[in-house]
Amino acid sequence: MPLVNEKDLLIPALKERRAVGAFNANNMEMIQAFIWGAEEMTEELGRPVDLVIQLSPGASKYAGWALGAGMVKIAANESKTRVALNLDHANKLEEVQEALERGFTAVLIDGSALPLEENMKLTRQAVEMCHSKGVPVEAELGKIPRIEDYFNAAEIAKLRSLPAAEAVRVIREKAGKKVEDLMAKPEDVERFVAKTGCDFLAAAFGSIHGIWDDVWPIRVDRLIEIQERTHLPLVSHGSSGILMTPKDAQEKGIELAEGEGTLLDAIQTGGVTKVNVATVLSISFIEGFVDAYKANPSEKDFRKLGGPSRDRVKEKVKEYMRLFAGRI
Ligand code: G3H
Ligand code: ZN
Repeated sequence: MPLVNEKDLLIPALKERRAVGAFNANNMEMIQAFIWGAEEMTEELGRPVDLVIQLSPGASKYAGWALGAGMVKIAANESKTRVALNLDHANKLEEVQEALERGFTAVLIDGSALPLEENMKLTRQAVEMCHSKGVPVEAELGKIPRIEDYFNAAEIAKLRSLPAAEAVRVIREKAGKKVEDLMAKPEDVERFVAKTGCDFLAAAFGSIHGIWDDVWPIRVDRLIEIQERTHLPLVSHGSSGILMTPKDAQEKGIELAEGEGTLLDAIQTGGVTKVNVATVLSISFIEGFVDAYKANPSEKDFRKLGGPSRDRVKEKVKEYMRLFAGRI
C-alpha cells in the first residue's frame, strides 16, 4: 500500500503500550528484509505489524534522494504492511525540504548539538515546514551521544571482543557519568514541546548510539519522569546497544542499578513507542555477506552473498518485532 503517515502508526501504538520498529536502511536488500520481516511477523502474531523505514541524510545521499525514497515507496506499494518513511537525524532545513519533496511521511529534526533555545528555534522552523504538508516531526531533547565520542576504533574493537558484563563495566567507567549529564532534563520537556509543536520526542534517557550487542541499561526512571510531562510518543535512539529484557540482563550477568532498565521496560512503562535500530542491522548485513563468502570464496554471483545477508537482517528485525509486541 502507499506510504502511511507516521502518526497513524505511533498514536495507536502508544495507547496499546507497544512499539513500532524504526529500522535504518542503506540498500535495497535491507528495505526488503524489513518489509518481509514485518509480513512474516504479521502471520506469526496474527495481527498487523507496522514498520518505519528510516533513511538518514547520509543514506539518502549514498543512494541518491530520489532513488532511496523511491525504493521504499515501491517496496511498500507491493506489500500490505503499513510503512512510514522517516528522515532520520536531519540537522539542516535543506535536508527537511529534500524529504518533503521526496514524499517522506515523517522527519526527525535533530537540533541536539545546539544550545536549547537554538534547538527549539530550528525545530519550530522544521515543524512549520512539515506541518504545512501534513508531515509529523520528531525532535531531539538532551543529547544521545555516539560510542565513538568516548572510544577510538581500536578501543571499540577491543570492547566488542569482551564478555558483555565486562564491556558494560568499561563503558560505564569512562562514559557513564557523561551520558547521564547529557540526558533530557524533565523540567525542559513541557516548554520544549509547547514551543516547538513537535509530534514525537526523542528525549535522551541514557542510551548511546552505535553499541552493538544489547548490553546497555537505560534510565527508566528518567524516561518515566519525561513521559509524565508529555503525552507524545517517545522515541528510543541507540537501541542496538540497549538490553532487551530483564532476563537478558540476568543471562549476560549485567546488574541493573537503581532506576535502570531495559528496552522492554521503556516500552511497557516508559511510553517508548518508536524504537530506532541501525548498527546491529548493519553488522548483521556485513556478517551475513562475509560468512557466505567465507563459505564459498570462489562465489562470483552477488546474489548468493546478498541473499544470506538479507535473511540475517530479516531474522534480526523479527526478534525486535516480537519484543515490541510484548511477545518475549
Ligand atoms: O537513529 C537511529 C538510531 O538511533 C540507531 O541507533 O545504531 O545504536 O541502533 P543504533
Ligand atoms: Zn538516533
